[in-house]
Amino acid sequence: MYQRVFNILLVNFITYLIFSIAAVCHVSAPSTRQYLFDFTKTDDVDNWQEQSDTVRSVGMSKAVFVIHRNTEFRRAIFFALLNPQPNGAGFAGIRALGMYNLTGCTKLQLYCRSQGQFNGFKVVLRHKGLNDEPNYSFEQYFQAPKDEFAIRELPFSEFKAYYRGKRVINNETLDISQVTSIGIQMYGGVYQPIKQKGPATLELDWIRAE
Ligand SMILES: *[C@@H]1O[C@H](CO)[C@@H](O)[C@H](O)[C@H]1NC(C)=O
Ligand SMILES: *[C@@H]1O[C@H](CO)[C@@H](O)[C@H](O)[C@H]1NC(C)=O
Ligand SMILES: *[C@@H]1O[C@H](CO)[C@@H](O)[C@H](O)[C@H]1NC(C)=O
Repeated sequence: MYQRVFNILLVNFITYLIFSIAAVCHVSAPSTRQYLFDFTKTDDVDNWQEQSDTVRSVGMSKAVFVIHRNTEFRRAIFFALLNPQPNGAGFAGIRALGMYNLTGCTKLQLYCRSQGQFNGFKVVLRHKGLNDEPNYSFEQYFQAPKDEFAIRELPFSEFKAYYRGKRVINNETLDISQVTSIGIQMYGGVYQPIKQKGPATLELDWIRAE
């Protein structure tokens, strides 16, 4: 009798062990995965600076980036108010300067959600310390998920050179071994089919590369 109970427990225990090991192996990250910003843990927003179109008399846009937390969770929120010119020129954004060597990774991933009428954003990368104009930026447009949080994937191969929102045809590609500026913008869409204006929000748990 005791022997039988013991055998059943042993079998259960071994089954549990096998499933546990399988689960751990399954979720283990690829070796190249890098969290650039994990706002659910310790990363704060102090090293992010605003980059919005505040130069012209029209096109006075505003962006802020803040940590949102309570006892249950922690994340960052990007708030933008876009007041573009009639043709859509204008942007509201934030960026972080740093030195990121993403060699071996193929894409950027953002775990995010957008609420509000407009959910079109772009990620703006710069490399090799060429963090300001007249140097090009490397940009990719994306639609943020609207209701549930989800991962948006931006392949590095799809980051194209832009100058002031306009695509430039050059021979240079983004050097992911030396990314020195990472930005997020709500765009007016001056050279895009879709124009946006007004308020938008992007809640963000993390940005990682893999
Ligand atoms: C980036 O990382 C790769 C692989 O770890 C390394 O070979 C390369 O020298 C690094 N590049 C820079 C610019 O640090
Ligand atoms: C921009 O690029 C030019 C060359 O094209 C370079 O001389 C200049 O230092 C760069 N400036 C910044 C801030 O990126
Ligand atoms: C791009 O490459 C072509 C052919 O190699 C060259 O003629 C041209 O000057 C290059 N353009 C730029 C912007 O570097």
